[in-house]
Amino acid sequence: MTNASALPAVSVRNARKSFGDKVVLHDVSLQIMPGEVVSMIGPSGAGKSTLLRCMTLLDRFDSATFSYGDLVVCSPNEQGHAVYSPEGTQESHNRFGIVFQNYNLFPHFTVMQNITDAPIVVQGRSRDEVEAEARELLERVDLTEHANKVPCELSGGQQQRVAIARALAMNPDVIYFDEATSALDPKLTADMQRIIRELASNGMAVGIVTHEMGFAKLVSDRIAFLFDGEIAEEGPAEQVIDHPRDPRTQRFLSQAED
Ligand SMILES: Nc1ncnc2c1ncn2[C@@H]1O[C@H](COP(=O)(O)OP(=O)(O)OP(=O)(O)O)[C@@H](O)[C@H]1O
Ligand SMILES: [Mg+2]
Repeated sequence: MTNASALPAVSVRNARKSFGDKVVLHDVSLQIMPGEVVSMIGPSGAGKSTLLRCMTLLDRFDSATFSYGDLVVCSPNEQGHAVYSPEGTQESHNRFGIVFQNYNLFPHFTVMQNITDAPIVVQGRSRDEVEAEARELLERVDLTEHANKVPCELSGGQQQRVAIARALAMNPDVIYFDEATSALDPKLTADMQRIIRELASNGMAVGIVTHEMGFAKLVSDRIAFLFDGEIAEEGPAEQVIDHPRDPRTQRFLSQAED
């Protein structure tokens, strides 16, 4: 449920990022509220992955005010350079989970070990408690009977659901999907839509990077269209996809239909 007075689960304001001379993020601001699904779309090279990499601390903004809930990760100093707080940076890893395009499962671990490893090793929680939670997660993503298999014994869609359960096992406030819905058949895409909507209805904030406009429209509350390092347009999913206002969005979507 979205509560207008609540803090965003994640907030990025006035983010800038360059690689050498190339400015990749100009002045990007994006918030995701608890219970909200926000998709980032846009042409190749627009900066979607860079934004997501910085939001998941795989890379750093040059400048931004960036927080998870009340946890400040970085803010600009007087010169405008992002100053990362060591505590905020460390603690932020407990606030989000991410499902990658290729799922990044550990090939030699069973499904159960893939899900329980980080909560036990990184968060230092008790094995019994984590395994009990993992069994509940497996039930939620319909994988109960696969707990003792290794990833190569599972289909792509099943591996993807393991990756989701693994992200959820850390009890995050935000879950990100990086192109994780590409190359799924219609049934799996529908499953994914259902799982994501269920997560949101339980208060999870969801951030998605996708090239699939149909999926983005169905699953998202809000869509941000990135173009050349800026958010060119942002609004309710149906408005952005069906009635885009910015000529850059219109052009991109008409090409995406081809
Ligand atoms: N590590 C890097 N070093 C130099 N340039 C980079 C680096 N990573 C990304 N870029 C450049 O930043 C720009 C944005 O790339 P990014 O990967 O964020 O785009 P994207 O929107 O995710 O594109 P796609 O839809 O193809 O995945 C591109 O011009 C890319 O070449
Ligand atoms: Mg990308």
